[in-house]
Amino acid sequence: ETLNTSIEGVGGPNDHRTGTGETEESLTNRQGHPVTDNQNIRTVGNRGPATLENYDYIEKISHFDRERIPERVVHARGAGAHGYFETYGKVGDEPVSKYTRAKVFHEPGKRTPVFARFSTVAGAKESPETARDPRGFAVKFYTEDGNWDLVGNNLKIFFIRDPLKFPDMIHAFKPDPVSNIQYPERMFDFVAGSPESLHMITFLFSPWGIPANYRQMQGSGVNTYKWVNQDGEAVLVKYHWEPLSQGIRNLTQKEAEEIQAENTSHATQDLYEAIERGDFPEWELCIQIMSDDEHPELDFDPLDDTKLWPTDKFPFLPVGKMVLNKNPENYFAEVEQAAFGTGVLVDGLDFSDDKMLQGRTFSYSDTQRYRVGANYLQLPINAPKKRVATNQRDGQSTYYVDTPSGRNPHVNYEPSVLDGLQESKQVGKVHEPHYNDKLVREPIERTNHYGQVGETYRQFEEWEREELISNLVAALEVSHEKIQEKMIEHFTKADSDYGRRVSEGLAKAKEANKNQNKKHTTTVKAQKAMYSAQRKG
Ligand code: HEM
Repeated sequence: ETLNTSIEGVGGPNDHRTGTGETEESLTNRQGHPVTDNQNIRTVGNRGPATLENYDYIEKISHFDRERIPERVVHARGAGAHGYFETYGKVGDEPVSKYTRAKVFHEPGKRTPVFARFSTVAGAKESPETARDPRGFAVKFYTEDGNWDLVGNNLKIFFIRDPLKFPDMIHAFKPDPVSNIQYPERMFDFVAGSPESLHMITFLFSPWGIPANYRQMQGSGVNTYKWVNQDGEAVLVKYHWEPLSQGIRNLTQKEAEEIQAENTSHATQDLYEAIERGDFPEWELCIQIMSDDEHPELDFDPLDDTKLWPTDKFPFLPVGKMVLNKNPENYFAEVEQAAFGTGVLVDGLDFSDDKMLQGRTFSYSDTQRYRVGANYLQLPINAPKKRVATNQRDGQSTYYVDTPSGRNPHVNYEPSVLDGLQESKQVGKVHEPHYNDKLVREPIERTNHYGQVGETYRQFEEWEREELISNLVAALEVSHEKIQEKMIEHFTKADSDYGRRVSEGLAKAKEANKNQNKKHTTTVKAQKAMYSAQRKG
């Protein structure tokens, strides 16, 4: 059967201009030319030399040469899936309109399409998914008001509370710039000098640091946002994703090592195969609410992302659920090119003054303009599933022009009386927080580095504490003594039992190493400890 091209007759067997015999199965190049030989380049005689006008070859190889885009600077390894979010239309037992006018949460049962991407943080694009590392949990909601991205992690807190420290933190966690090996010593060198990270480290080195897969883990927005109602009144909110029927499961170090020996893509595979067999993972979205003020009664600052909001005072209130029911059709087009950012909010959702959130908000779209390109928002995975009408034009890989039909395509500016685009009306009252303070560079007052760390440590079950100590000892054992001392000091301030057990563990390890006449080393052994290839017995 001949191909029915838009220019009648072109390319078919009866096309005397090309005479190519193109059919439905035919391979073509990107110019639409049928490829008649995909095995041999054109040469002078069958032994060469080659000629430079081989268009098919040059198009094929030069496209191949450009197949990779820069991997994400963090969260490079990931898996994604499509699905929907279904709102309960309520916040716990209260009407949602009391707190937010965001349409995505209104009308019980209403579904909004979503795309979710899960990831590890420090490893490169094809690194093992068994790493002890936070897991990214990013969701793009294609709402009727445009896109909303909730870019979270599995753990509910973070290492740092000031975005200025992020590049240093990531440098310390990523491989050494000389050897390209990831050393726990570098990580703990940073952590020892950044006591705010102790809470996150305590979760990360416990079994909570290796979720069993992407389906059986929680998610959290980590940073504090605001919900704004029709009257412009705001409350502080934190978001949490709780797995429904699939439950929560973490791995011990040993279990992770066993999986890693066999499979470095187990989490991607688990998600993909579950969706293929119709076993769709589901999460309930819960929020915690606080009034929008400084809360001097708390021993921590509500905008400090290294702290948990205690659930007895700020309960989890269910607001809806997400179901992931469709795998990507193409990994690169959808998962790799997906671009999430904390700045991507819709009417009724707002930023808080959380410094980290503000710092992140610049970083995401900045990196995406570099990583994916200036027109990354025109790609189907990133474009809203609603009308877009801008005066933004041109740039690399412009795919279409954002002028809706019926508007004057000559007018790419505003204001104009010549049928150009107009500002839309503000419907809800704008939330206008009032500020009156000095502009400073200062840490927050209620740093309280240790209080919640001790509470978390004591709340773990005993087997979780054992894992935590053993994993910490394995990483600290290969770190400089000064770092060990500082870390023991920090752990002791959080809980004396915590400090004592790490200290005893390290002493024991030192004794064992001495017996084996081993020198302090931060090379291969350190890498193994980090990447869990070998666990100390
Ligand atoms: C990815 C920056 C903190 C969650 C990224 C990317 C950057 C970045 C540049 C790569 C984005 C891309 O290439 O598309 C920062 C900065 C932070 C910060 C500057 C602190 C100041 C956090 C925190 C969380 C988080 C606290 C958790 C709530 C994520 C996730 C991704 C990501 C889930 C991957 C998104 C995806 O799947 O594409 N971050 N980040 N980040 N970040 Fe952050």
